[in-house]
Amino acid sequence: MTKTSPAKSRRLTLLDFHQYKHEKGPKIVMLTAYSAPMARLMDPHCDALLVGDSLGMVLYGMDNTLGVSLDMMIQHGKAVVSASQRACVIVDMPFMTFEKSKEQAYANAAKLLRLTGASAIKIEGGAYLAETIAFLSARGIPVVGHIGLLPQHLKRLGGFKVQGKNAHHAQQILSDAKQLADAGAQAIVIEAVPEFLGREITHALSIPTLGIGASPDCDGQVLVSDDIIGISGDFIPKFAKRYTDIRPTIEQAVATYAHEVRTGAFPTMAQCYTPDKE
Ligand code: KIV
Repeated sequence: MTKTSPAKSRRLTLLDFHQYKHEKGPKIVMLTAYSAPMARLMDPHCDALLVGDSLGMVLYGMDNTLGVSLDMMIQHGKAVVSASQRACVIVDMPFMTFEKSKEQAYANAAKLLRLTGASAIKIEGGAYLAETIAFLSARGIPVVGHIGLLPQHLKRLGGFKVQGKNAHHAQQILSDAKQLADAGAQAIVIEAVPEFLGREITHALSIPTLGIGASPDCDGQVLVSDDIIGISGDFIPKFAKRYTDIRPTIEQAVATYAHEVRTGAFPTMAQCYTPDKE
């Protein structure tokens, strides 16, 4: 029987997701959200909303996520928190905001949480971040790790490629996951790894795993919302699924509007103000 997540009158937290894992409860449903209107639509259906730094590519048309700033994450994080009530909102720490030192990471993570009202931050990287994660956790910052394909390491990895394909690399990613969990990460995103590895990491950890191109056995799944509705263009990663394509609907509306403006069919008096009706 499929368990569904219970209706809650408060926001879900990472601790609720631990309970889901340990009680073999519902799978955790997470999608990216970057704006208030989308967060409002997704909140009733999702357990977690991720304000991912993928917004640099999805919303701003950047080639990668390296140009995303802390201020961008704060503005979009605020919008998503204000338009949601139930979902646990997790905000990404962008490139160059946590790597320099654990003190730098703490200052920026605390700022993100304080100014957005989000429930947790997410941080990309392997075992070398264990000390930083321990430092943040000890100071009250709920941390979600992110292993496997690390979009912020795109230049080193040579592109968006599946990670952990050979036994040595797979062991290294498993070891990263264990060290981040031991350091205090309360959940972990696993991106683009062979299925067996996503499954093995999920079974090895006591914290929940959120898979994106990982394994159906992960404790939850996350996708980029624009991929599932067709906005992100013709390319969809192998791990994503397009549930609908809203592009033709938008194109049709814009083309009809353009035609009506050019032919004078819009506006009509119905869209005009008259002195006695204002
Ligand atoms: O930035 C993002 O959207 C992410 C997801 C791909 C997990 O990190």
